[in-house]
Amino acid sequence: MSHNQQILRSEVILEKYGKALTGKTVLITGVSDDSIAGELAVQLASADPALLILTARAESKVAGIEERINSVKPNVKTRFLCMDLSDLSAVRGAVEELTDVAHIDHLVCVAGVMFPPYSKTKDGFESQLGVNYLANFVLVKLLLSKVRAAGPSSSIVIMASSMARQGKVHFDDVQFSNGDTYDPMVAYGQSNAARVMFVKRLGEKLKNEKIRVFSVDPGAVQSGLQRHCPPGFLDQVAEWKKAGPMVDLDGNTFDIPPWTGTSEGASTVITAMIDPTITDYAGSYLNQNAISDHELHTHLRDTANWTKLWDMSEDLTGEKFAL
Ligand SMILES: NC(=O)c1ccc[n+]([C@@H]2O[C@H](COP(=O)([O-])OP(=O)(O)OC[C@H]3O[C@@H](n4cnc5c(N)ncnc54)[C@H](OP(=O)(O)O)[C@@H]3O)[C@@H](O)[C@H]2O)c1
Repeated sequence: MSHNQQILRSEVILEKYGKALTGKTVLITGVSDDSIAGELAVQLASADPALLILTARAESKVAGIEERINSVKPNVKTRFLCMDLSDLSAVRGAVEELTDVAHIDHLVCVAGVMFPPYSKTKDGFESQLGVNYLANFVLVKLLLSKVRAAGPSSSIVIMASSMARQGKVHFDDVQFSNGDTYDPMVAYGQSNAARVMFVKRLGEKLKNEKIRVFSVDPGAVQSGLQRHCPPGFLDQVAEWKKAGPMVDLDGNTFDIPPWTGTSEGASTVITAMIDPTITDYAGSYLNQNAISDHELHTHLRDTANWTKLWDMSEDLTGEKFAL
């Protein structure tokens, strides 16, 4: 198992394990020119998958990525799938478009938003909870039969963040009192805590089927994500770094990772998809290409919270997800 945490470029992971991707079908959310998912798609193409299903809110978002892939790997098929994660009916509609896809070897949920001003999704959820987490809950539920059809060594990978280490699910006020108690950073932390805990329970449920299930902290990646950050956010991060380590909800300290490019940001996702040394650790949280469950605070490791979150997600989305 990879214990040693290291920030690596995607190329390094692909050189080691990329053969496992040849001929595979991969669905990736959040693809755009400057996103981690966009870079992930380009990187995966180098390993000759059969089909990359690239999802975004508009075809124009993936056009540049498709062009980059086609220019170097014309044999790799790409397919745009329109999916707005802030609207569960759009998620369901997108899944219906995939009737001709018999199996999905890797379902990679990368899309997300960070620190937007308060707003609600079409279904009335606080936007970060809705887009970063609840939409993934529904997407995974609806596509699980196709992942199962791909057999053992298929994967479900959910992007998360080191902000989960300062986040928890506010079960008593998950929607922030309709915005009255909204703090964008607390809500981002909550959505990432939910992502990590969902994966914990899902991994446990799918372990016997040998489906790889991981949540991923990609590090601090220069991407399109910073667009919603309040002005001066990057200076603020620099100040936090100068002030010393961050503190998690248990009082343990951790460092803010150094800024990297998207190749480094995508590498831990690729580790989650194919690194054979971590197969037995379904449900784990990965950071810097290694199992990092020791970084999770008590609230995230509490199995009663995993159950509470699962039940709450079923209630909010109206999707019963029995496994
Ligand atoms: N960058 C980092 O330092 C960092 C650190 C920790 C975790 N993460 C996580 O990594 C993931 C990817 O972030 P990134 O850095 O690649 O940011 P990004 O460049 O902003 O990419 C996010 C992608 O998600 C898409 N997206 C946003 N809202 C959507 C919606 N309602 N429906 C469908 N797609 C939507 C965006 O599409 P549009 O262009 O249409 O908005 C974009 O393609 C996020 O989940 C984030 O929480 C990033």
